[in-house]
Amino acid sequence: MEVTNYTFFPTRVVTLQFPDTEPLNAELCDLLERRPELDDRSNIHPDALNLLRLAETVPAIHQLRSMFISGVKHWLNAAGITGQDAIDLLLFSNRSGRGESTIVHNHRTNLIGIYYARTAVSNRQPILPADGEDYFEAGDGVLVLHDPRFNANLTSVCDRDHVRVYPRPGLMLIFPAYVWHSVTPHRGEFHRLSFAMNFTLRWPADSAERHSLA
Ligand SMILES: [Fe+2]
Repeated sequence: MEVTNYTFFPTRVVTLQFPDTEPLNAELCDLLERRPELDDRSNIHPDALNLLRLAETVPAIHQLRSMFISGVKHWLNAAGITGQDAIDLLLFSNRSGRGESTIVHNHRTNLIGIYYARTAVSNRQPILPADGEDYFEAGDGVLVLHDPRFNANLTSVCDRDHVRVYPRPGLMLIFPAYVWHSVTPHRGEFHRLSFAMNFTLRWPADSAERHSLA
């Protein structure tokens, strides 16, 4: 008898832990503290308020853009994706008060980046794929990545249908935009602050035929 195992369609998640980010994170927190109107946390649509319009006047946003570009290059290189013309970037923040959470959602783009400026303190590894923790355990501002295969838990008979990410300042994640994700309630008295970047890949104009519907 010949038994062959395949693992098709894995989902690539890249994490980057940037060093020495305390000054940057302090600037980012201060920016949102002074200008709370910049926070557009629920806006995941193409017409979102794009914080990158501040990149030329706010050094912290300029630096954050460079870090996100570095992150997405890591993801694309690891996935072997080449040939794109450019990448559209859309940056927005998510500033959470005590008790606030984010329900399950995905983003209408190709890739998502998340960067954490201020979070709860955690001494464990950010990601332990088989941590055995109860799916319904609330935690403190834990990012939950859900298996993109609908009802995958019915087959797996284990708890690997989701991955819990314990964020920390300076941590960035890059993953496909089709990955449904959510955030458990923030428990601290301070404002938890993260930034999300939507990456939309642009391909050479001659790579596809375009037909006008007019
Ligand atoms: Fe999101």
